[in-house]
Amino acid sequence: MIELLVKVALAYLLGTAMGGLIIARLRGVDLRGSGSGNVGATNALRTQGRWFALGVLLIDMAKGIAAVTLIPALIWPFPQPIVLPNDWTAYLCGVAVSLGHIYPVWTGFRGGKGVATLAGVFVALMPQAFVWMLAGFALTILLSGYVSLASMLCGVIAIVHVLFEDASILSARGLFAILMTLLIVFTHRLNLRRLIAGNENRFEKAMLLRR
Ligand code: G3P
Repeated sequence: MIELLVKVALAYLLGTAMGGLIIARLRGVDLRGSGSGNVGATNALRTQGRWFALGVLLIDMAKGIAAVTLIPALIWPFPQPIVLPNDWTAYLCGVAVSLGHIYPVWTGFRGGKGVATLAGVFVALMPQAFVWMLAGFALTILLSGYVSLASMLCGVIAIVHVLFEDASILSARGLFAILMTLLIVFTHRLNLRRLIAGNENRFEKAMLLRR
């Protein structure tokens, strides 16, 4: 039990290292004060350009992957050979790294929206679902230009994938997909309001069908 708590705490702490804040500090810019004010890759792309955004995306995805592969494989006394992650431990570390990113203790629990971090978690734990999520994400952006809408749809795709795979919705995977979808919708509540009001930020240049 203590080992599990230590791993979950480590995953949370890893989550608090936000790519957007790290690169913004190195470059001396303020992501919070521009665009949507979010510290994620989308706002980095919108306000700072593609290389900045790529850096944010890679850091946030990498910590999601590390939290569910490396941390669950740590066995006391360290170091031990890397072993395949135990299911529940890995999923709990996935929840913890996401919460660390969204509610970092160092910045007054004000973090990001968790999309890139969760993308890393899904790549590692549910790679087949991730392929469908990526396809749905890209298609939604090409058709609508809304990254926020695409992000929320990814959660729905993950749940549908679990159901189609015949895995119980009460499995670690099923519960994880549901909980993380609810979390992503919650972190996008302002985006959702803007989508309904028709004034959400969109990437018109990325759209296939432009008005
Ligand atoms: O990754 C976050 C994205 O879904 C929305 O970002 O900056 O448009 O609020 P933003």
